[in-house]
Amino acid sequence: MFADGARCVAVVGAQWGDEGKGKLIDVLAEQATIVARYQGGANAGHTVRVGEAEFILHLIPSGALYPDVRCLLGNGVVVDPWTFLEERDELVGRGLDLDGRLGISGRAHLVMPYHKMLDAALETGRGGKAIGTTGRGIGPAYRDKAARTGLRVADLSDPERCARVVERCAEAANATLARQQVPERVDPEQVLAALGEIGEQILALRTDVGGEIRAALRGGGRVLLEGAQGALLDVDHGTYPYVTSSSTTAGGAATGAGIGPTAIDEVLGVVKAYTTRVGNGPLPTELEGREAERLRELGGEFGATTGRPRRPGWFDGPVVRYAAGVNGLTALAITKLDVLDSFETLKLATDYELDGRRLTGFPELASDLERVTPVYETLPGWGTSTAACRRLEDLPEAARRYLRRIEEVAATPIRYVSVGSARDQTIRVAAARA
Ligand code: IMP
Repeated sequence: MFADGARCVAVVGAQWGDEGKGKLIDVLAEQATIVARYQGGANAGHTVRVGEAEFILHLIPSGALYPDVRCLLGNGVVVDPWTFLEERDELVGRGLDLDGRLGISGRAHLVMPYHKMLDAALETGRGGKAIGTTGRGIGPAYRDKAARTGLRVADLSDPERCARVVERCAEAANATLARQQVPERVDPEQVLAALGEIGEQILALRTDVGGEIRAALRGGGRVLLEGAQGALLDVDHGTYPYVTSSSTTAGGAATGAGIGPTAIDEVLGVVKAYTTRVGNGPLPTELEGREAERLRELGGEFGATTGRPRRPGWFDGPVVRYAAGVNGLTALAITKLDVLDSFETLKLATDYELDGRRLTGFPELASDLERVTPVYETLPGWGTSTAACRRLEDLPEAARRYLRRIEEVAATPIRYVSVGSARDQTIRVAAARA
């Protein structure tokens, strides 16, 4: 399923996350040597269905379901070591053989228990301006990374350094907790004891992720760089401050995996056939009331990590066009087309207007994005199931027209269309056209 000649493919979310990257990665991983995560942490929830079994992966890359794929966490990931080991044990308990298949960069930062406590406390402190984080300690862990007060996987081999860092961080965290009037406190001894229990297990997985990827590519292997969240949650390009704390876009794939941008020869943007967002912040095409309920129910739009209901909306063209630009997308993968099967008509936003003027760029300010009016086109629905379609020409004409409009509005060709959660419910467009 790799495009002809492609060796290293970054798979990124081109909306607000939850686009179905897990399924796409799983489908593409059949031909991969390595699947590597490059940013984010256990805030991700990648759902992969194999037959009747459903796996929700938070930290372990979605290549795990194939027996020969090596699954790596790059330096750009923030790793909660306890969640990682729990997830590994659960997958092994369900029959996966992960022996010798997992690796973590020694440069990856660790998410510590105090990061989670701070995440919750800081959110409470934001009151009505809360970001709606997943509570997994992601922001505080990246904050320590940028402030140069973080703990990395490689540090686990130096207990004295771990003690120094944890003691300093606990003191700072306790001051914040006191300020936020949170009664709990971090006990550095307890944290260090917990770290001591798992340190060796994590160190045993330490590897040079970038080096492994480069060697695999030199040897003719194929590599997938698995993005988490989406472009509109990118710390630079997203709807700041309602974003996550990492570089979710394709540039982050190079930095976060430890390779140069020239190593990546395809950037596949995964896009839902409509829009969803979980957490707070602007969502121009958001639906309300019964229509929102209908789309949420049909699409099963509840967060894979937190179970929160996702906010649904019509397809937002300006979002995907912008995501195509900041990622340098070479192609799109459209997911969940089947969710729209029963709609009589569909709306698709092609542009935004702000204060009566058509916008050419994408607003930098979340407050401007809150105020834009989407310019909609209404397209006919197809009123028939697409779940059994396996080629582009199997799709009803109205569905193909909808897809063509997405390609035009996003100025990016569609390479895959997913019509259900099963592996084989995937249409490869390039093959169908050839
Ligand atoms: P954080 O990443 O937990 O700090 O959350 C920051 C924002 O990103 C919140 O709006 C979250 O809901 C959102 N977010 C984080 N991870 C995901 C994800 O995997 N899918 C969708 N939204 C996410």
